[in-house]
Amino acid sequence: MKIIGTGSALPKKVVTNDDLAQFLDTSDEWILPRTGIRSRHVITDERLEDLGKDAALLALKDAGLTPGDIDLFICSNVVNEYLTPSLSCVISAAIGMHCPAIDINCACPGFIYAMDIAENYFLAGKVSNVLIVCAEEPTRMTSWTDRSTCVLFGDGAGAAVFTKGDNVKAIKLNSQPSVIHLYETRPLLPTPFITRHETEQPLHMDGREVFKFAVSTSLRDIEEILRKTGTSVDEIDFFMIHQANLRIIEGIRRGLGAPESKFPSNIYDHGNSSSASCPILLDECNRKGLFKRGDKLVFSAFGAGLLSAVAFLEW
Ligand code: ACO
Repeated sequence: MKIIGTGSALPKKVVTNDDLAQFLDTSDEWILPRTGIRSRHVITDERLEDLGKDAALLALKDAGLTPGDIDLFICSNVVNEYLTPSLSCVISAAIGMHCPAIDINCACPGFIYAMDIAENYFLAGKVSNVLIVCAEEPTRMTSWTDRSTCVLFGDGAGAAVFTKGDNVKAIKLNSQPSVIHLYETRPLLPTPFITRHETEQPLHMDGREVFKFAVSTSLRDIEEILRKTGTSVDEIDFFMIHQANLRIIEGIRRGLGAPESKFPSNIYDHGNSSSASCPILLDECNRKGLFKRGDKLVFSAFGAGLLSAVAFLEW
């Protein structure tokens, strides 16, 4: 398969580190050097499905297709207001699309997990065009009294349209299952039969453990996919890394020994938007005209699960 269109949509409200310091014991001096984040887009009166819809329509327009041309829609999402129907169905209804619709919850690597599913549909000869939308509102998952998590996140949606082609050279999905380092729980409605105590736990993250996992796993994933495809670091034009923390991206960059110019980043004014991070970055780079035909791109992402994924494709 190959990418023929990208799109993204962000909430209008921008919250700076200085804004956060108005109600949290934090500061720009603490957040910026440790994360690379100066501001983030935060949902206010928007609905996540509207951001997903806008990103999808922009990607379809970029691809020169209509919703009726899409054979499969995969939506990556961790949290939204609907428990049912799936977010892919909610977005499909909004844009008038009538193809099979699948939701996946693979946290931050969701875009690459969705690409892997799409690639297998192409290989099975079942589809001609696939739409992937990653729509996330992680700012609704954290406690806004927990300065160690809420400062890290921003909301948004990113989308990409794929058609037949042989530009995807390799995708590898990995897991190192562990709940305790990164999780969130919420109680379901009570019944007369539930006897256990269920608690609401806003996003809990062992920052240092997740940091180490992110750098070591991404390096391992990228080195493995390069080895398997017989490609050197020097041959890669752009490393599209999940925008979780600039220091994580820096650790990966140094580990690979590649120049900064090969690591596009938008974390400065986006924060971490979970699975939406890679396709939003992709769309912004695409619209800036950063990529030329044949450029070699490596995507790497990591997050709750703990899951990670890597993909190597040509533009
Ligand atoms: N402002 C001011 N002080 C803070 C803040 C804040 N926002 N957050 C934490 N601190 C304080 C802590 O309370 C602690 O104080 P103490 O020493 O008095 O106890 C001190 O700063 C150091 O805290 P650490 O958590 O040890 O700080 P660290 O240098 O590890 O940085 C951070 C924390 C930025 C979260 C880092 O661990 C990190 O980036 N981890 C990776 C997290 C991540 O990117 N996850 C995303 C991947 S998964 C996903 O996308 C869902």
